[in-house]
Amino acid sequence: MTETFTLAHFTDVHLSPITGFVPRYWNAKRFAGFVNWHTKRRGVHQRQTADQLIADAKMLRADHIAITGDLVNLGLPGEIDAAARWLATAGQPDGVTVVPGNHDIYSTLHGDIGVARWANYMGGDADTHAFPFVRRIGPVVLIGLNSAIETQLGDAGGRLGADQIEVARDLLERLGDDGAIRVVLIHHPPLPGLAPPRRAIADAAMLQRVLEKSGAELVLYGHNHKPLLTWVDSVTGPIPVIGGGSASGSRVYKNDPLARYNLFTFFKSGDRVRIRQTVRGLETSGGPVVKLSETVLQPPD
Ligand SMILES: [Fe+2]
Ligand SMILES: [Fe+2]
Repeated sequence: MTETFTLAHFTDVHLSPITGFVPRYWNAKRFAGFVNWHTKRRGVHQRQTADQLIADAKMLRADHIAITGDLVNLGLPGEIDAAARWLATAGQPDGVTVVPGNHDIYSTLHGDIGVARWANYMGGDADTHAFPFVRRIGPVVLIGLNSAIETQLGDAGGRLGADQIEVARDLLERLGDDGAIRVVLIHHPPLPGLAPPRRAIADAAMLQRVLEKSGAELVLYGHNHKPLLTWVDSVTGPIPVIGGGSASGSRVYKNDPLARYNLFTFFKSGDRVRIRQTVRGLETSGGPVVKLSETVLQPPD
């Protein structure tokens, strides 16, 4: 394996404007989300900032872009359509992989196909978006999970479900036996305690057990809009579990940092796969994209 494969990790771009908020899709959750967007987040998440970061990843010739959900805000068909067009500007389906977030699968769509519009970017056949999906990209295998479900007002949580976790376990074991570099993509924090209950997945403890017993080389998530590295011990070695900051934050909001994305380079050191994490993003509001940090991931002693 040569040191040339790089995976860019983007998350929580929350593209605007909100389009298609027509009476058919009105309900309390979407009204609250609409007010929240216009009073708080609209001035923070800027599409042009996300575009600036995507252009940077392309300029650096990232081999693939993984996006861990929350592309939109109220999960409306109009927004999801617009996000599909944005995805096309980020790259072809063979260069970009997406898993949905709670703002993508948000509330009832009365039978509309919703995020199935992104099926080509989610790995399966064009007519399905079954999860987990598997995509082989160079030396890496991406395993895409869907943690998002339609929720009620005040609930930003999610659930994988026993079936999805069971299939993920089989995939991780089989791919691990094959010696693949397994990268798990999920929107919500995958471990217990990384989010308060109303923002967490209900089955994080079950997923953690699967990771411990089946192993993975890297787990990437979003949702919290805050960068965080956590390690999970597993049968195949310590797994770095990495949360990304939003890739569209054009100004500091609460404790969320400015827009950033991760660039992971995989390389062999002896028998082991090592991962270099480079964080790139804005140092100042309106500024250029710069390198914010660079580290070779190293588990704590
Ligand atoms: Fe988000
Ligand atoms: Fe989220």
